[in-house]
Amino acid sequence: MAATADVLVVFGITGDLARVMTFRSLYRLERRGLLDCPVVGVAVDDWTLEQLETRARDSIVATGETLDEEVFARFIGRLSYVQGDFGDAATFSGVGEAIAGTSNPVFYLEIPPFLFGTVVKGLAGAGLTKSARVVVEKPFGHDLESAKALAAELHQYIDEEQLYRIDHYLGKMGYEEILYLRFANTVLQPLWNRGYVECVEITMAEAFGVDDRGHFYDPVGALRDVVVNHLMQVVAAAAMEPPSSNDRDALRDAQVALLRAVKPADPAHCVRGQHEGYQDVDGVRRGSTTETYVALRLEIDNWRWDGVPFYIRTGKRLPVTQTELRVVFREPQPVHLGLEPGDDRLPVRDEFVVKLDPSTGARLVVDAHRADSEGPQAVTLDVEFADEGGEAPTPYEVLLHAALLGDASRFKRQDVVEECWRIMQPLLDDPPPVHPYAPGTWGPAIAATLPADHGGWEGPWIVDPSH
Ligand code: BG6
Repeated sequence: MAATADVLVVFGITGDLARVMTFRSLYRLERRGLLDCPVVGVAVDDWTLEQLETRARDSIVATGETLDEEVFARFIGRLSYVQGDFGDAATFSGVGEAIAGTSNPVFYLEIPPFLFGTVVKGLAGAGLTKSARVVVEKPFGHDLESAKALAAELHQYIDEEQLYRIDHYLGKMGYEEILYLRFANTVLQPLWNRGYVECVEITMAEAFGVDDRGHFYDPVGALRDVVVNHLMQVVAAAAMEPPSSNDRDALRDAQVALLRAVKPADPAHCVRGQHEGYQDVDGVRRGSTTETYVALRLEIDNWRWDGVPFYIRTGKRLPVTQTELRVVFREPQPVHLGLEPGDDRLPVRDEFVVKLDPSTGARLVVDAHRADSEGPQAVTLDVEFADEGGEAPTPYEVLLHAALLGDASRFKRQDVVEECWRIMQPLLDDPPPVHPYAPGTWGPAIAATLPADHGGWEGPWIVDPSH
């Protein structure tokens, strides 16, 4: 494992992501005693340190945290600010001065990807990259070719091992639970294959819309925004073989081995939708054909999954905000116990669900008798992990901490990125037509036909807030 960082440098600290995520995550790391180095902010804005401190305070409070002044003071005590244009060599000398005496810096680039190359070049030019790690935010290209070009640009200055690509799904507790539950449990592990599984369904539903992100979203769409990255990581976690060792790269080797077996997505098994009213969103082009909903079927051509479809659906302005992985097991045979009428009906298919959002949970759907009904029926066995083990760290806390420790397993390697683009490329080259849908519905009606041969869409599991 790489050496623990002795300074964190945040490029773009005056921007939106810092306001919404970074200050809060660093504050929470401070509170848990996990932040142990100076934090240097860099941005073009002509701010004083006091202005940055005020921004930090306001940002943390706005996320709903109750500020512990002692913790906040400790955090602020770590903060300094370098003002400068990213195209200007003087900015990087300024950064060099601010981090003088450190030997393992982490540079976190919360800036648009077109600036990654400029900043990394500037850092390299100032001699700051030798033992550094560079953390970057998505998107990593907009298709296979551009993803390769971006990596090639960055690899001129730093090695792949130094590059930490954030996909915040890799910091979600639910992501880790998928891996842990399926590999660590004898009741699940033997069933997790084509012999027992009918299909796998991944639903990422969002009740909210594009809101004020029209300029960002319209050139991107649902497939690039969340499927090629976040949901493909869920596919990989659900389908990969167990990592072969505890080596930091073994998890990513297992991810990439699985992704290599996924066939290119077929436009004939993909439905795109756009919610009514989307074109009135600020920043969206009139006549835009960008999808706010996408559903697709993937096939995995390997020993474990041959013939088992993986269905993915996601959309904005759907009825709920809920993300889950659902493994639907094969239909059981009829049972004849002669106990009650209804005994000879076909039992329901078992299902195992891992809920990733808005909270983490697991559900087993089994067929069982109940006293309050005439005969057997589906019964659910549920666990909310927050009730068992308390509140989990947020994904950005997990990832920033991993970056500081030099734990690369939580970040995306370039081969993982390229495999995901390879799989989605046919949908980018030949996008299916976009169907309108009414806000608050489950997307275009035609999407229901996609998993029809395998019993249709199930779920998502919506937790009743009164429980
Ligand atoms: C982001 C997308 O990467 O992930 C957003 O840009 C999406 O459009 C978000 O809403 C979902 O992440 P989470 O963790 O809030 O479910």
